[in-house]
Amino acid sequence: MKGIILAGGLATRLRPLTWVTNKHLLPIYNKPMIYYPILSMKKAGITEVLISTSPDHAGDFAELLKDGSEFGMKFYYSIQSNPKGGIANAIGLAENYAKGEKILVILGDNIFGYDLKNDVEEFSKIKKGALVYGVKMNTQTKQYGVIEIDKNNNVISIEEKPENPKSNIAQIGVYMYDERVFDFIKKLKPSLRGELEVTDLNNIYLKEKTLYCKIIDWWIDAGTSHDELLKANNLVFEKIKNKKI
Ligand code: G1P
Repeated sequence: MKGIILAGGLATRLRPLTWVTNKHLLPIYNKPMIYYPILSMKKAGITEVLISTSPDHAGDFAELLKDGSEFGMKFYYSIQSNPKGGIANAIGLAENYAKGEKILVILGDNIFGYDLKNDVEEFSKIKKGALVYGVKMNTQTKQYGVIEIDKNNNVISIEEKPENPKSNIAQIGVYMYDERVFDFIKKLKPSLRGELEVTDLNNIYLKEKTLYCKIIDWWIDAGTSHDELLKANNLVFEKIKNKKI
């Protein structure tokens, strides 16, 4: 399986921090934010990773991460020229890089301790499908994709930022897809916010009854606001001290 880390966007909500660099390079405790998804990929046994970013500050990634050999990995870079194209658009740009292979996608601002290794091993053996991850939030959330599951963890629905959430399970930014993903992305239409939504992509698999879901214990989306960035720093500090990451 090949890895893709999505690290684009303008991050206007994090200005002035993001005037001079990309938000995924901002510090989270003792490392730049993007190190966390990179290290999650590495722990999962994935060594080839495409880093997709936006044209502004793209050189900062190359300067920091180089060819990946310092991580014992191999990095490739791609540019999403429309920073508002959406997650599915950014995944679609990886077609030439990952054609004919399964992929693990992690959003560059998502931090979690869960070890993906066993799931990657199992997923690489299945014939077809996609795997999404959820985290139970304390309160219902309209801010994320919301996953509704039955008692056996079968997905009933996934809705993007719903007005009336059907559960308190947030869809996190970690996804595995089979080889057909690039064909499915070509069928997507932009949502009301003008993006090719990862949730619409996941719903194609759900319709086909090949969407699987796992619930993990903790996760933080560090890049949404100054408050979340601060929270992520404190949480990661605590998790590192308690050896949970
Ligand atoms: C995206 C996805 C959403 C998911 C979230 C996780 O939201 O569309 O389903 O819950 O990432 O970070 P966005 O960051 O585009 O608002």
